[in-house]
Amino acid sequence: MTNVVVISGGGTGIGFASAVYFARKGAQLVLLGRRAHILTDAAKRLAAELPAAPAALCLTGDLSAAESAEGVVGRIREAFTHVDVLVNAAGGSVVMQASDAQYADGLAGVARRWTDNFRLNVLSTVLLTEGLRDRLRSPGGRILFVSSIAAYRGSVQGCYAAAKAALHPYTYDLATALGPKGITVNTVAPGYIRDTEFFGEKLSDERRETLIAQTMNKRPGTPEDVANTIGWLASPEASHVTGQIIQVNGGAERGR
Ligand SMILES: NC(=O)c1ccc[n+]([C@@H]2O[C@H](COP(=O)([O-])OP(=O)(O)OC[C@H]3O[C@@H](n4cnc5c(N)ncnc54)[C@H](OP(=O)(O)O)[C@@H]3O)[C@@H](O)[C@H]2O)c1
Repeated sequence: MTNVVVISGGGTGIGFASAVYFARKGAQLVLLGRRAHILTDAAKRLAAELPAAPAALCLTGDLSAAESAEGVVGRIREAFTHVDVLVNAAGGSVVMQASDAQYADGLAGVARRWTDNFRLNVLSTVLLTEGLRDRLRSPGGRILFVSSIAAYRGSVQGCYAAAKAALHPYTYDLATALGPKGITVNTVAPGYIRDTEFFGEKLSDERRETLIAQTMNKRPGTPEDVANTIGWLASPEASHVTGQIIQVNGGAERGR
């Protein structure tokens, strides 16, 4: 049986590493994101590494906007009768990705910063998940969210951290609702992960060194560290693990 694995943000960083993980297990991948060329390139790299794996289906759309998310969900529902694993990796800090001027004008800027972070990290996850929750394989389906160490420690301006923290009660409620159907719902909360587009140009060498120094094992996280945890949570071996937030940060949440 070929597992259908849907990955938002599947073209880069943690989402792409998760795609490689599941492709190696022979899954039928569905990669989601806003930029078509990034997804096409990701699918080509997967095909080059794993020529025997089924070709990934790439679907573009802004998952934080209801109409666009509805279109993406509709195409997945047309193509597949069920989804085995849903990995919600799409997200990020809008402050990292924007110019400082974009959010500068007083309370209007503050409102945009908080609203945009909420849309990017909460709505992109909730809209896709709600659109597919009745298609998760029962029993055996797996839903994964990606939060952040920021949900525990803050994110300087609070808005990214608060948006990620909102995924935690959603994890508990959805795990409660879907548990009787044999579907697990868990969240992975990474610390600093290198080789992603998350920080854009905004991570200074000094800040990077500080983040690494806060880990107990004194190294940056990799997308594969997170993908391996997602992969285990998606496996049959993790069938009794649900409603959990699993931190993947080298101990940095408690680091000094
Ligand atoms: N890297 C870290 O240190 C770190 C630490 C903690 C948590 N995280 C979390 O890990 C997750 C994965 O991020 P990453 O680190 O792998 O960074 P990334 O490379 O920037 O990946 C984010 C992905 O999400 C997609 N995306 C963003 N907004 C979207 C939208 N509205 N609709 C659909 N797709 C969207 C992006 O593609 P498009 O731009 O083409 O849409 C991109 O592929 C994020 O939720 C992030 O907050 C990252």
